[in-house]
Amino acid sequence: MTENSSGGGEIALEARNLVKRYGSVEALRGASFTARAGEVVALIGDNGAGKSTLVKCLSGAEIPDSGEILLDGRTISLDSPTAARAHGIETVYQDLAVAPDLDPAANLFLGRELRRKGILGKLGMLDKGAMRQQAVTEFARLGVQLQNADVSIGSLSGGQRQSVAVARSVVWASKVVFMDEPTAALGVVQRERVLDVIKKVRDTGISVVLISHNMPEVLSVADRIEVLRLGRRVARFTSAEATLEDLVGAMTGALSQEDAA
Ligand SMILES: Nc1ncnc2c1ncn2[C@@H]1O[C@H](COP(=O)(O)OP(=O)(O)OP(=O)(O)O)[C@@H](O)[C@H]1O
Ligand SMILES: [Mg+2]
Repeated sequence: MTENSSGGGEIALEARNLVKRYGSVEALRGASFTARAGEVVALIGDNGAGKSTLVKCLSGAEIPDSGEILLDGRTISLDSPTAARAHGIETVYQDLAVAPDLDPAANLFLGRELRRKGILGKLGMLDKGAMRQQAVTEFARLGVQLQNADVSIGSLSGGQRQSVAVARSVVWASKVVFMDEPTAALGVVQRERVLDVIKKVRDTGISVVLISHNMPEVLSVADRIEVLRLGRRVARFTSAEATLEDLVGAMTGALSQEDAA
C-alpha cells in the first residue's frame, strides 16, 4: 500500500474551532477539520450538519465568526474565493457555479482567460484557440467526455455540466480541492469517471476533500473520513478500519468517539 491509501501525507489545510452563525442559527459550533497532502478525505454528516458551511469557510466564500485556518502550518485569512484560489484551493460547490452561456473551454478558463499575444492581448482580445486547445487536452487527461465541445454549457446535461465543474477545479488546484457532492447528479458511468479523476488528482499530491452522502462511495474512494454533527467534528476514521455502521453511528450520534476536535 502506498502512503496515499493510509492518508499519511503532511497536513495541508486545517480548520480549528470554526464558528459560523447565520442570524440565530449556529451552522458551525467550533468545527475542526484536517486535510492532508495526497489523500482523499471524506467530509460526511447528516443534512444540516455544517459541511457546506465548513467548505465555504475554507474556500473563502464565507468568513467564519471565529476560529483559525492554517495552510501548511501557517495561519491564513481567506476573505474571498480569489484569496483561496491564490493559495491553491479550488472548490466545486454543491449549488453548481458554471456560466451557462459559455462553452466548456470558456468555463474552464473563467476568470483566468488567456489573452492574445502583443497589442491584441493588451486590447483585451482573448486567445480562444489556445484556450480551446488546452481545454481539449485537459478534458482528455481527466476523462471528461463531451460529444460536442462547441456548445454552451447550458445545453449540456446536468451530469456533463458537473463534470466540467470538476475538471475546472482540479485543473487549477495546487493544494486542496473541495468537492461538495460532485457525483450527486451523475449517472453510473460518469460517477465512476469523476471518482477516477479524484484518485488521479490525489495521486499528484493534492488533497481532495469529498463531501458525499453515498457511504459505499465514501468507503471506496476516501483514505480517511471526518464526521460533522451539529456543527462540530465528532469522529475521524481511516477508511480501512471504518464500517458502514461506524459512519452511520457517528453521523446520528448513536456512536460517540472521544471528542475528535
Ligand atoms: N446562508 C444561510 N443562511 C441561514 N442559514 C444557513 C445558511 N447556510 C446554511 N445555513 C444553516 O446552517 C446549517 C448547516 O448548513 P449546511 O448547508 O452547512 O449543511 P450541510 O451539512 O451542507 O447539509 P446538506 O447535507 O443538506 O448539504 C443548517 O441549519 C442551515 O440551515
Ligand atoms: Mg451541503
